[in-house]
Amino acid sequence: MGDTLLITTPATATAKRNRSDEETETKKKLMQPSLHTSDPAAAIASVRHEFGEHGGVNMSIEPSVTFTVMEPDTMRRMFAGEVGPDQDFYVYSRHFNPTVLNLSRLMAALEGTEAAYCTASGMSAISAALLQLVNTGEHVVASSSVYGGTHALLNHFLPRTSNITTTFVNISDIEKVNEAIVEGKTKVLYFESVSNPTLTVANIPELSRVAHRKGVTVVVDNTFTPMVISPTRLGADVVVHSISKFVSGGADIIAGAVCGSASLVNSMMDLHQGAIMLLGPTMNPKIAFELSERIPHLGIRMKEHSNRALAFSTRLKKLGLKVIYPGLEDHPNHELLKSIHNKEYGYGGIICIDMGTEERANKLMSYLQNYGQFGFMAVSLGYYETLMSCSGSSTSSELSSKEKALAGISPGLVRMSIGYIGTLEQKWSQLEKAIIRLQECGFANKN
Ligand SMILES: Cc1ncc(COP(=O)(O)O)c(C=O)c1O
Repeated sequence: MGDTLLITTPATATAKRNRSDEETETKKKLMQPSLHTSDPAAAIASVRHEFGEHGGVNMSIEPSVTFTVMEPDTMRRMFAGEVGPDQDFYVYSRHFNPTVLNLSRLMAALEGTEAAYCTASGMSAISAALLQLVNTGEHVVASSSVYGGTHALLNHFLPRTSNITTTFVNISDIEKVNEAIVEGKTKVLYFESVSNPTLTVANIPELSRVAHRKGVTVVVDNTFTPMVISPTRLGADVVVHSISKFVSGGADIIAGAVCGSASLVNSMMDLHQGAIMLLGPTMNPKIAFELSERIPHLGIRMKEHSNRALAFSTRLKKLGLKVIYPGLEDHPNHELLKSIHNKEYGYGGIICIDMGTEERANKLMSYLQNYGQFGFMAVSLGYYETLMSCSGSSTSSELSSKEKALAGISPGLVRMSIGYIGTLEQKWSQLEKAIIRLQECGFANKN
């Protein structure tokens, strides 16, 4: 397929069939996307609004697996890559699907990239992007503090299946990152904008400079901080997402996205060499429709996640707990985050409390859920309710004790994804009540 500029495909065939040319042209003019804004909310609002087949304010869902052609030669031309989704020609929904493409345009706008494509999960987005960018025998440099599944993919799965090896480094040490990159062999520098679970903030401009000097592609997982941080606006090349988290917001859908250049996204759809086309982590168009209805209020949700996370972490600190939150002035990366975040979206919705031991961490979570009714003991994040888990024994359990120590994951680290349900004061009183009870029982360590 040619170099499709995926964000700016023309009006859908159905819209063209159902409206006069003049009306279609007027709507098209109304909906020209603007790619030049630095505010993710403004960029999302500038994506052309797709109307439904009957003029509905919501787009229609295109659930079809396959698509008809009027002439047999069109089929040949589609398979030869002479025509594609930019001219409204679709082949098969494991390749481009119109509804998934519409959601992908929103993701591209969110991340300020030329293109994007959505996948069935965050892990499939990460693995497809890495397999597209790195060949057998080549090398990745990755942050030692990444989500446990990603760590296992890089540490165990890719070396075994593909002879792709990874050197893990502390990305706060830029010189170590530079040393780990082997010119010619290292293809990707991989890290999370704010790391899971330690909340280390990546110096994206500096890391991108170091990588680009040696021709290395920078891939950033921005799952923790959509709207808050815009990695490609800071120098990164590719952004991957677990949409299952904040972007979805409902804890009811597993999904992912790869956001990057049109040439990368098109290469992932190549009939002979494309990781999305050939490995098939396809998103269902009905899911794509649901998610596209949630992205317009992502900014509002992120502001409130961040607002509550800052309020609770500030107050918890005053109660004497060891709180980790990059929005707090004493966090080692506070100034860095202040200098790179999109100010109106705050510092993100995740905080950690280090309880020292797993036993105390478990007590804290149990009190918060069963005594204070403050949140739920559950992995994942980005939900409207608060979710909490002890990372070392759950979402980072793939790491060995030594790897956890290197990543800075204490056995008593409780990760909390702060929800926005109820009022701030109502939720604070539940949180405070549980902590005070815990302290009375002698379980809460002091800062
Ligand atoms: C930072 C991060 N990236 C990627 C993933 C994987 O995403 P998914 O569960 O959607 O496959 C997760 C969590 O599961 C995560 O926390």
